[in-house]
Amino acid sequence: MPGRAVEAAAFIVLFAASGPACRRERKQEGPPYSAARGVVDRHCVGCHSERPTVPAFPIAPGGLVLDTADLMQQHAARIKLRVVQQRNMPLLNKSGMTDDERALIGAWVDSGAIGPRS
Ligand code: HEC
Repeated sequence: MPGRAVEAAAFIVLFAASGPACRRERKQEGPPYSAARGVVDRHCVGCHSERPTVPAFPIAPGGLVLDTADLMQQHAARIKLRVVQQRNMPLLNKSGMTDDERALIGAWVDSGAIGPRS
């Protein structure tokens, strides 16, 4: 059946062509940077900032500053460790971080800690 052969060839070509694109897409399946940024703004930068607003911390504890996308990406593994694995940040959870927010941060890190869309 020549039809079958053409179909198979087309499939192979499409499959080969879509390979790298699919891989790129899979990396972006997690929540967008904007969502992770919102959670970190709500629960972290009060202390972990160049200019903390929580009076007890005139400088960022541990020197950890999370003000920019670059810094969040650079510290993604530490963020996940304390927020998702150890669950001991935010400190005493005074801001009431929810399980959904912890899961969102974990998913953002696991999907490659992508930055803002350019
Ligand atoms: C009320 C202040 C406060 C808030 C809010 C806060 N932290 Fe912290 N954080 C601290 C203090 C104090 C330490 C140092 C003591 C410790 O490591 O437990 C710390 C340490 C850390 C460390 C370890 C730094 C290192 O040296 O490796 C990480 C990572 C971290 N925080 C992440 C976060 C994240 C992510 C959030 C938001 C979900 C957050 N923190 C919210 C006060 C805070």
